[in-house]
Amino acid sequence: YRLLFLFFWLTITLLKCVCLHFFCHLISDCSTASNDLVYIMDGSSSVGTPDFNLAKRWLVNITSGFQVSSRHTQVGVVQYSDTPRLEIPLGKHLSSPELVGAINAISYLGGNTQTGRAIKFATQHVFPSSTRTHPARNRIAVVLTDGRSQDDVVDAAVEAKAQNIILFAVGVGNEILNSELVSMANEPPSTYVLYAEGYSSISNIQDAMQQKLCQESVCPLQIPGTANVKGFELLSRMQIDIKSKKVQGSLMSETRIKSLLCLSRDIFPDGLPPSFVFVATVRLKSPTNHVKFDLIRVLSLDGRKQFAVTLNGLGKSVTFTSTTSTINKEDQSVIFNDRGIKRLFDSRWHQVKLLVKPRRIVCYLDNMQIEEQLLEPVVPIYIQGKTQVAKKFKMEATVPIEIQKLRLYCDPEQSDKEMACEINFTLFLTNNSIVVQGKPGERGTPGEPGKEGNKVSESMSLQFQHLVDYSCCHCLKYWFYYSM
Ligand SMILES: *[C@@H]1O[C@H](CO)[C@@H](O)[C@H](O)[C@H]1NC(C)=O
Ligand SMILES: *[C@@H]1O[C@H](CO)[C@@H](O)[C@H](O)[C@H]1NC(C)=O
Ligand SMILES: *[C@@H]1O[C@H](CO)[C@@H](O)[C@H](O)[C@H]1NC(C)=O
Repeated sequence: YRLLFLFFWLTITLLKCVCLHFFCHLISDCSTASNDLVYIMDGSSSVGTPDFNLAKRWLVNITSGFQVSSRHTQVGVVQYSDTPRLEIPLGKHLSSPELVGAINAISYLGGNTQTGRAIKFATQHVFPSSTRTHPARNRIAVVLTDGRSQDDVVDAAVEAKAQNIILFAVGVGNEILNSELVSMANEPPSTYVLYAEGYSSISNIQDAMQQKLCQESVCPLQIPGTANVKGFELLSRMQIDIKSKKVQGSLMSETRIKSLLCLSRDIFPDGLPPSFVFVATVRLKSPTNHVKFDLIRVLSLDGRKQFAVTLNGLGKSVTFTSTTSTINKEDQSVIFNDRGIKRLFDSRWHQVKLLVKPRRIVCYLDNMQIEEQLLEPVVPIYIQGKTQVAKKFKMEATVPIEIQKLRLYCDPEQSDKEMACEINFTLFLTNNSIVVQGKPGERGTPGEPGKEGNKVSESMSLQFQHLVDYSCCHCLKYWFYYSM
């Protein structure tokens, strides 16, 4: 019996190992993204040995979130002064301890600051030398400098960007030239340019840098029609815009379309970013406004919720579900049931916005903050399952909803720019009249010194409202009746 028991025990352990190994590859977040990452570090005389050592430690720190391997993130380092020196070829060290050792061993150069030349060197020699079997999904360069370049950086940056290299510029100290950093980095500067007062305080921007690198790895896609806003345009990614009936204005006859099944790995190939803004603009008519359903859900292969936004028409609440790192718990749910959320179920168009940060979540309705709650740390999601929209809670049945926006922005700061303006614009369109309910313009408040606000005429104010609404919402483009 003992032998038999031992045999079973061994078999089960073996199976478990195989299973775990198999599932490991299916978990996704930025650590498992496929990146070629090159650090271009200033080694000019102004830096000095102590600060140069801090810079090295900072590079080690910001790399710690990545899995260093030939499948995931490969790292290369260039140090430059008058000329660039290849310190670590891309992908030479394929484990974190080895890489950390190699970065620590870099010796300080000293000399002038020829940043443009160094960027050119990285573009022409370092990135092309990547030897992975599948090309990296993201090519990212981080330029770390404490001064003004003595050569031209613009041409070098243009050449790098033409090779699909994303450039971050990190300026340290007060000798840096802001316009130079902006001109070398990708757009917008709020995302791609960082500053630290000095190397001694560079650890202050470590979280920001890690977060940005992570976002860049997980969210390489731009939302169509925006000025380089990164995220997931779910209406098109899930082909809702193709498979659902498109209507202008109010209700039209219901259309049944084929079931919509999306594999999560096609929608979120590298999982979810650590922070994001989820936005949905929906109209819930009867009977949908009386049922509990998942507006969106990402399920693992065995049906566990990895991420979900549930609208509860019975209890008039919104629930956010995500993974959690808490032991013995598979997921965590946060419920927003403040009185303010009830309007969502009144059969009119409304925008739900969830600002998700590593430890807290804020719920908005039509750009008005409803409630803020705490969140436990989230762990990576399994992407081998499916992603679904408008499904009855715990069931496969689909509920009919109307939807005009379904997005996930990767930059939490996008929350302030996402202003639910389509709600007013929708009113304007459904009213079947040219008259917009705009109020006459009032005398503006005094502007910056030397400028004072103008009195705006009524027609101007209407025009302005129209323009603002149109440019930020793309309402006409996304006007869908989605029903299955
Ligand atoms: C690196 O990380 C360690 C541990 O979090 C921190 O104490 C240190 O200040 C960081 N150093 C730099 C230069 O960022
Ligand atoms: C709609 O317009 C009104 C007045 O013009 C404004 O007070 C309200 O905040 C707007 N709503 C949204 C969601 O933008
Ligand atoms: C529609 O327009 C009329 C004026 O023509 C206005 O009184 C009414 O409030 C508008 N309705 C909506 C829902 O905006």
